[in-house]
Amino acid sequence: MASRLLDLDPTSIGQVHGSDAKERPLTDKAESIREQRPKYEQSMFGMSSNGDRTFSHVRTNEPANPGSEAGLNRDEEGSFYSYNSTRDVRLFVKEMHGRIWNSLNETYVLPSDDTEWNRLDKQHLAHIIGLGGLYPYPEQVEAVLAPVEGTTKCILDVGCGTGSWVLEMAERFPHTLVTGVDLAPTPLDAAHFPSNLRIEIDDINLGLSHFYGQFDLVHMRSVQSGIHDIDKTLSDLFLCLKPGGILIIVDGGIHFLRDLGTFGRMRRVDGDEEDATATSEDGSWFNRIHWEVSRACQIAGASVDRSHEVLSAGLWDHPFSEPGSVASGSYLFPVGPWAQGNNVAQNQQLHYGGLLMRQSLMNIHRAFHSILLRHGMTQDVLDAWSQEIDQGEC
Ligand SMILES: C[S@@+](CC[C@H](N)C(=O)[O-])C[C@H]1O[C@@H](n2cnc3c(N)ncnc32)[C@H](O)[C@@H]1O
Repeated sequence: MASRLLDLDPTSIGQVHGSDAKERPLTDKAESIREQRPKYEQSMFGMSSNGDRTFSHVRTNEPANPGSEAGLNRDEEGSFYSYNSTRDVRLFVKEMHGRIWNSLNETYVLPSDDTEWNRLDKQHLAHIIGLGGLYPYPEQVEAVLAPVEGTTKCILDVGCGTGSWVLEMAERFPHTLVTGVDLAPTPLDAAHFPSNLRIEIDDINLGLSHFYGQFDLVHMRSVQSGIHDIDKTLSDLFLCLKPGGILIIVDGGIHFLRDLGTFGRMRRVDGDEEDATATSEDGSWFNRIHWEVSRACQIAGASVDRSHEVLSAGLWDHPFSEPGSVASGSYLFPVGPWAQGNNVAQNQQLHYGGLLMRQSLMNIHRAFHSILLRHGMTQDVLDAWSQEIDQGEC
């Protein structure tokens, strides 16, 4: 693969590399994703429609003390745990501040519940618009996944969330085996589960040595706030590849920009002067809350800043990447339907991408409350900030 940068600027959002964005209208896609998602309590999670177990490999021990990382007794090679009922699934989640959270990793900032899954659906569709498909460089990806007699092509998605990406990949490449891993149970209905897809529950911070050398394509999207040591995780992801395999990492920053290239300032609050953070009377409440979350993540042990640094620098110099085979790029999303492109198709892509991203972000700030409450902020302050964001004072 030649070295080159993806040419994705705000007006290039939606340039279609693959054909998936054209296959079905986005609203149909969102609807079909929702249809596949019953609540945990109603789900046949872990069972196929005829009662056979489909998730026979769930790579974690039953947490001795669900709700605490310390309670997880997992050996280095990983033990495979099969769970038989939705009762077992509940061992992997807990309730806190009115939301449902994974039980394995307390540093990950977002919940695992219906509200979050609806938000992730929108973000998934926005990514499809931004990238022009499920993945960049379709030619290279499709070449590496092309069937070869005598071998099985394998795909790994770490932090698979709602399972939208793995499900679409399993359907699009039925000859492959697709594995999704997440901290929390993935809300897919087993009745709609393709036989070439399996989901495991695990914390990738604990190592991926059991997967080394097995995958043709490894994918990680929007997982950085759950990663403790990005350098270790990156090496692990590379080592999961077969020779010639492809690693794709997609991640984002969610600071609002005032204009292209200028970060919006944070809103001033009492006490800012003490720690000399950027302040402004006309700053953004969203940037304020997000800045507090980044700080909380770092205190909790997630290497968010280091992740940004590593991903912005690209993987050109990574000892495991093949020289000349690395590419990186970025795209900006308008947060709303206002942006204009150069033609009708671009206008539509900017319009829908912007709408989806706005809905996704307008939902996320309340999900941030939990980690900020744990870091000493009060509910009154957080409610006041979120109200300002809801009222459009972003
Ligand atoms: C923002 S969501 C993105 C989901 C999906 N990749 C997507 O793009 O739609 C991040 C997901 O990564 C999972 N995650 C975060 N840290 C993780 C870790 N250390 N190990 C496994 N999964 C993790 C979370 O549980 C969550 O489902």
